[in-house]
Amino acid sequence: MKVAVIGTGYVGLVMGAGLAESGNSVICADVDAGKIARLARDEIPIFEPGLEPLVVRNQAEGRLRFTTDVAEAVRQSEIVFIAVGTPQDEDVSADLTHVLDVASVIGANMNASKVVVTKSTVPVGTAKKVRAAIAAKTKTPFYVASNPEFLKEGAAVQDFMKPDRVVVGVDSPEAEAGLRELYEPFVRQGNPIIVMDIASAELTKYAANAMLAVRITMMNQFANLCDRVGADIRDVRIGIGSDERIGKQFLFPGPGYGGSCFPKDVKALISTGKDVGFPMDVLEAVDRANDAQKRVPAMKLKELLGTLAGKHVAVWGLAFKAQTDDMRESAALTLVEQVRAGGATLTVHDPQAMHEARRRFADQVRYAEHRYDALDGADALVVLTEWSEYRVLDVDELTKRMRGRVVVDSRNLYEPKRLRSAGFTYSSIGRP
Ligand SMILES: NC(=O)c1ccc[n+]([C@@H]2O[C@H](COP(=O)([O-])OP(=O)(O)OC[C@H]3O[C@@H](n4cnc5c(N)ncnc54)[C@H](O)[C@@H]3O)[C@@H](O)[C@H]2O)c1
Repeated sequence: MKVAVIGTGYVGLVMGAGLAESGNSVICADVDAGKIARLARDEIPIFEPGLEPLVVRNQAEGRLRFTTDVAEAVRQSEIVFIAVGTPQDEDVSADLTHVLDVASVIGANMNASKVVVTKSTVPVGTAKKVRAAIAAKTKTPFYVASNPEFLKEGAAVQDFMKPDRVVVGVDSPEAEAGLRELYEPFVRQGNPIIVMDIASAELTKYAANAMLAVRITMMNQFANLCDRVGADIRDVRIGIGSDERIGKQFLFPGPGYGGSCFPKDVKALISTGKDVGFPMDVLEAVDRANDAQKRVPAMKLKELLGTLAGKHVAVWGLAFKAQTDDMRESAALTLVEQVRAGGATLTVHDPQAMHEARRRFADQVRYAEHRYDALDGADALVVLTEWSEYRVLDVDELTKRMRGRVVVDSRNLYEPKRLRSAGFTYSSIGRP
């Protein structure tokens, strides 16, 4: 099929490359001229395992093209995906400006009947607004659909190529047929294409993220409770995770969820609840608890160091999770702000997010190219992201390079006994 993907971010780029890989002719359009120029040169603007070969191969074979001309991309396609950002608005609802701007361009370029699919995460009722924005510009018949994306950054290519499920919200046989044709090659092993009405599809995405955010937050709260009652969250996790109704995944405590989805989607769902007179009490508590969780590493640091004033802190891990360079809403943002406010200086390291860190922190922190270089002269080390390369620790190197003997491990990567026997004050999360 001839496909246009508007918005070439984490979602749009992965889906554009994935759809090209299955034989479609795909044009990815974005208003960011710099990003499009880099992509045209086969430079991938984000870190996403497995993405580069897909882009390079499909671009070389002519199935994948990049353009800043959104109008032309629309005119050339039968099916148009809107995959632009839906950031948090000032009132915490989802900001639909980009989605509706694109809808308007689609309407103005409706040179033949098309299926227009919202891939961005949008509140219930957005498809109606998209339909109205398009209809205001054209008399040509068109069909709208909602097709929320469930990929995880860091495993996005794999998730897109082999999705657990594809959710499709439609109100016309034309849209259903178009999306089925497009997605059949990705579910050959029998995973379902779940077809539903548009409002349910829109809500399914938020409900999925909300469930996961609740789960993470509950585990963080259990871990904090363990810290206070002398229990071990590792045992609690295994104890509850072996109950099939609960399951093993997503049960690791940490410094609060971040990224481009959970924080803003939880807030947007709270906002939807308010709009319809149904307060989402649980999510309001989750949102508050997550903000508090992001402050835990700095709090522990201050407790163990006595004061932050005049101290130097090394930070390992800036991305909101491993396998991505995305720092949106990362716990590192809170930590750096709090540590600096307390009068300490920082040297930071991340295997993939250093360019993003430089953009965000500029000269507020120092940067280490190697993780052990971050430790030189540090009073404390804080580990924020669960990168594999942080898992094995050379304690001698820590001892040699650090001035102080404090390690705050917000991902429970290390064995407490080992660090303590080497003379370190080691604080993890939810372990005695
Ligand atoms: N990142 C994820 O893991 C993920 C997963 C599932 C769903 N989502 C949802 O998908 C959507 C996109 O997320 P993302 O992380 O890819 O965002 P992103 O910020 O990485 O990318 C969005 C892109 O849209 C472009 N854009 C903005 N306005 C435009 C316009 N008028 N015309 C053309 N391009 C425009 C931007 O330049 C940017 O490149 C969001 O709604 C998000 O909630 C994201």
